[in-house]
Amino acid sequence: MNKRARGMLGILVREADGILPFSEADFCRRLCLIGQRRGMKVYVFTPSSVSAGQSSIRGFCFENGSWQQRMYAPPDIVYDRCFSYDRRTLHRKHIAMKRLAGVHQFSYLTRGLSGKWNVHRALLGCPELVPYLPDTLPYRTESQLELWLDSHQGEAFLKPQHGTHGKRTLHIISPSSSEKLLLTGRDGQNQILHRQFHSRQEGLNWIHSFIANRPYIMQAYLELVTSGKEPFDIRALMQKNAQGCWELTGMAARIGAKETLTSNLHGGGVPREAESFLRSEFGIGPGSRIADTVRELSGKIPVCLESRFGRLAELGIDFGVDRSGKVWVLETNSKPGRSSFFRIGDAVSARKSFENPILYARYLLLSKP
Ligand SMILES: Nc1ncnc2c1ncn2[C@@H]1O[C@H](COP(=O)(O)OP(=O)(O)O)[C@@H](O)[C@H]1O
Ligand SMILES: [Mg+2]
Repeated sequence: MNKRARGMLGILVREADGILPFSEADFCRRLCLIGQRRGMKVYVFTPSSVSAGQSSIRGFCFENGSWQQRMYAPPDIVYDRCFSYDRRTLHRKHIAMKRLAGVHQFSYLTRGLSGKWNVHRALLGCPELVPYLPDTLPYRTESQLELWLDSHQGEAFLKPQHGTHGKRTLHIISPSSSEKLLLTGRDGQNQILHRQFHSRQEGLNWIHSFIANRPYIMQAYLELVTSGKEPFDIRALMQKNAQGCWELTGMAARIGAKETLTSNLHGGGVPREAESFLRSEFGIGPGSRIADTVRELSGKIPVCLESRFGRLAELGIDFGVDRSGKVWVLETNSKPGRSSFFRIGDAVSARKSFENPILYARYLLLSKP
């Protein structure tokens, strides 16, 4: 089992200004320790670790109880955990990876997905998933949103294509019988916002400037709330394992506060064990059937997306469940978090969530000709 894999796994993360010069230190520490136990050489690096024309990389490894900095050979596999929310980081990351490719041939453990609309379109290509996809279109203009409202009972849910954490989401209500437009949303800092407009046009103009040329999607508004009106979703973590096969690492429900629109942990949501939560909300039989549907869809989505985007290693899939118990696929994340498993005390899923990327990287290196 612990045959040593030839080759290195480099974990790419953002730079940081703290005691350590890189972010996600706890995540990286766990990966280094698992690497040592599982016969994989693992180190951490950032875009600034890669200097032009140099074949060695300044990296960090957690060993013997502390972080060690040294020069490493370039990685054979890169596990990209570098969140690039802004153009500058994206550009710097791009340059670094181009430099790296110039000195050594490497592959990515998993790919980034290219925005919610492209993912939605890819999922539409898999007929068995279509019934679970909410009606969705890319947002373009105020008048197109107005047409959408007229054909969707006066409601829409808008979200940024490259958004995360529920930030900049909007729920719009504007029945065609009334001139009013009501908004509940989250701003760029994830704070709740409420607006009321006496004229529909005034509301549509405000929305257009709030969107400010960012790529957005419009989606059918779904009542994804508990009986107590708290928004909730189900996060499933799918990962490839030591045999290179997809498996469901774990699931967690995330429950937001009443009238806060989103359930993301970063917006104040609280995680709960998924199946017991679903049983308590929908009844034992229906709750278990909803959990089964989530499991079944979770198995299909990674295969469907890989056929469109190429190799993936892990996906965090968000499912909504409406008041009738119908399951909806909300979005898939290619850089999923793991904190909900710790917070609900699911030690097995938490451990596996860190082990799987290492074991899959090891599998890739060992199966290289
Ligand atoms: N169509 C929808 N109708 C109602 N609520 C939604 C809808 N889509 C998403 N939500 C809520 O907003 C949250 C964030 O949406 P999501 O699509 O997961 O984007 P992200 O997490 O990337 O910001 C979801 O977890 C869910 O609580
Ligand atoms: Mg989400």
